[in-house]
Amino acid sequence: MAVPEPLRMELTNAARRASERAYCPYSRFRVGAAVLTEDGTIVAGCNVENASYGLTICAERNAIFQAVAIGQARVRAVAIYTPTPSPSAPCGACRQVINEFGPDAEILSVCDGPDVLHRTLADLLPNAFGPKNLAP
Ligand code: THU
Repeated sequence: MAVPEPLRMELTNAARRASERAYCPYSRFRVGAAVLTEDGTIVAGCNVENASYGLTICAERNAIFQAVAIGQARVRAVAIYTPTPSPSAPCGACRQVINEFGPDAEILSVCDGPDVLHRTLADLLPNAFGPKNLAP
């Protein structure tokens, strides 16, 4: 079921707030994400970079891993905030990780401009490989 508007607002606000905690001394690109889990819990995350660059974790994966770590492994929606004039969809790696925990998730990307990108994960990652492919 689609996430109702007041909850969407709460979720995107949590993503915006999380971007303030980004650790991004290399890119200076502050990203925030917030995950809405099955029971209505909102878990936020930010991008965390590393001097070795390749170990950087995106905001979306950080938020999802934190949700899993508190026992909230079913993802209903993910909001992403980027400090850009137009919204950005999650990167490919994050789409694959979202699929693991929320194949039917709604994805809401917000930014500093008025546009909102509202998609399903299936729109962004059609014919995904996931847990269902490993089932006996
Ligand atoms: N980044 C995210 O956190 N999420 C995305 O979907 C795309 C990129 C981060 C990674 C890196 O810290 C910075 O943005 C620049 O790529």
